[in-house]
Amino acid sequence: MPRPLSHLRPTLLREFLHGVSYYPEHWDAAIRAGDPALFHAAGWNVVRMGEFAWDILEPEKGRFDFSLFDETIARLGEVGIRTIFCTPTAAPPRWLTRDHPGVLRVDADGRRQEHGSRQHASHFSPEFREFSRKITHALAEHYRDHPHVIGWQTDNEFHCHFREDYSPAAEAAWGEWLCTRFADDITALNQAWGTAFWAQTYARFADVVLPRRDRPTQLNPAHWLDYQRFLSDGVAAFQHEQVEILRATQPRWFVTHNGVFSAIDYRGRFTRDLDFLGYDSYPFFEYDPAARAAGHAFNLDYVRAFSGHFLLLEHQSGAGGQGSYYHDKPEPGEMRRLAWTTVARGADGLLFFRERSCRFGAEEYWEGVIDHDNVPRRRYREAAQLGAELARIGPQLLGSRVRIDIGIAGADFAVQHGHEPITHGLPSPKNMAETVHGVFYRAGHAVGIVHPEDSLAGLRLYVIPHFAIFDPAWVPALEKYVAGGGTLVIGARTASRDPRSNVVSDPLPGVLRQLAGVSVEEYRRQNRPDLRPLRLRFADAEADLPTTLWAEQLVPMAGTEVLARWTTRHLAGSAAITRRALGRGQVIYVGTYLTRDFTEALLPCFDQLGALPPPISTTPGLEIIERIHPDGHRHLILINQTEAVVSVPAPVGAQRELIFESNLETGAVLEIAPNEVRIVAL
Ligand code: GAL
Repeated sequence: MPRPLSHLRPTLLREFLHGVSYYPEHWDAAIRAGDPALFHAAGWNVVRMGEFAWDILEPEKGRFDFSLFDETIARLGEVGIRTIFCTPTAAPPRWLTRDHPGVLRVDADGRRQEHGSRQHASHFSPEFREFSRKITHALAEHYRDHPHVIGWQTDNEFHCHFREDYSPAAEAAWGEWLCTRFADDITALNQAWGTAFWAQTYARFADVVLPRRDRPTQLNPAHWLDYQRFLSDGVAAFQHEQVEILRATQPRWFVTHNGVFSAIDYRGRFTRDLDFLGYDSYPFFEYDPAARAAGHAFNLDYVRAFSGHFLLLEHQSGAGGQGSYYHDKPEPGEMRRLAWTTVARGADGLLFFRERSCRFGAEEYWEGVIDHDNVPRRRYREAAQLGAELARIGPQLLGSRVRIDIGIAGADFAVQHGHEPITHGLPSPKNMAETVHGVFYRAGHAVGIVHPEDSLAGLRLYVIPHFAIFDPAWVPALEKYVAGGGTLVIGARTASRDPRSNVVSDPLPGVLRQLAGVSVEEYRRQNRPDLRPLRLRFADAEADLPTTLWAEQLVPMAGTEVLARWTTRHLAGSAAITRRALGRGQVIYVGTYLTRDFTEALLPCFDQLGALPPPISTTPGLEIIERIHPDGHRHLILINQTEAVVSVPAPVGAQRELIFESNLETGAVLEIAPNEVRIVAL
């Protein structure tokens, strides 16, 4: 039965999967022979294989050879390690691209992608789709009754390198897609896109071009957004064909995919087709160690917002090195800490990338758990420590959900992609969600990302930073949330555009005007706030707060209170932040951008208004995540993200600490070393 996508949704995995992505095709028989024992000793119970091995699985068109994988799966199975197999379509083999060059993708400059790297085939190519179905079918049939193959990953990281497709196949599919979307009515398209602007009017669907940036200048935002939807639907349809084959062959398999990238609507049919979403996590792309924990937490919360708990299919296990960059090496304890954070924030299973650093190819310096020379060193020992811990504690966490007191709106496809052609130099909705999330994260709150159409139950505070595009269908649930006692904070520019990505015709904030009890008289971009500062002041405050990026002059409706007024230039005296009490809750409208400094400065105001729940952690840098089980019992996971020892009283009622397996006396104090983790059940 399809389950609605929600941040609250567990994966339904019945065991805690822990393991590694494995590339037997990169190693000789002698090394492979030692791998099952090595993997077993690390506590791994699963591997993921095959995503880039199409050349081995089908060395010639129609001739399949699965022997390497049969042997590998069998030998791993002997020590209790099961396999997630992948459809290998992220890297089609040379015979395919040689004999069928029409499958290749084409970029916006008309350059055909070539063999020698990966992701070079078009999801729109009917020919490529046929090859995709054939290899999927052959693999599915072959492993149908295999006791050790437990599930599938489709392809690998769709759209990780690029999403755009201007191939002839994409062009042909585009006309058909538009025709369906606009019910064969070209006038509807012209109206929806506002093609009257710059003489864009189309007479036939076949005439509609694929939008190309800077050719020669700015794009029609509505045209662009529909192109993103088209790309998303294309990849979803490509995946759907694989999913259908896998499910029809063996219903007991789970099917997942490792995201998260652009131009895929992960709250749409792409994810509804899967049992749960997978995610690949590489926190060392953040070079500032002090910023890494907050960014990592945001990314995990963002992924969970799409569809719920996930399977972490690739977790960084060493420094990543490719092309022009080479990450910092995780210091002792860092990899395990990040892995525990990942599990705490919603991974119902975790696999490292990869078993061993490869000695050849584009990712020679992308480190695996084991080094090039196959000597297991400290990162392997650390992985093994984690493996032993996850074997004991992982299963206890399954089925629980992450507590969120403060939700930040994010994870919407149209809102994010609608921003792209018309940024005005402003941060994207995703960037702003991360900024606001970071403020509450650093203040120790149980914060998460929640899509406006998801359940808002249990949230004390819900912040919609700057969702310029806003779907009117989201409004009733927000009204209910506020009436029921929630505090809703709406940031400037929200609801100024419609889901087609056109500007709304009503006074702003459009469909939120009644709920917020305010209208926007005038808005402006602030480009040089240093030259013409716009500041505001709360009614009872002694000092002004500077604002940047954006400023709105507000007009409150009857019954709406003004919390802060502008104090400078011609805006002086007009409303800047308002509050409308409604039912048991309240709506706060903020007429500027929720930058980090500004949002931090707002916290006392939220507190005064009773909108701020108590923080879950009062010790800076000690991240605490609460997992709540359906029967009400809870796990608290305490992670020291700092470089110093922190001491905290053991949570009230905790009798035993699970990492060190020690009993806790009443009044016990937990001394937590840097990178260390403590877990208690309540
Ligand atoms: C992931 C990808 C892997 C590997 C890894 C390291 O994005 O799925 O195949 O490329 O990054 O670069």
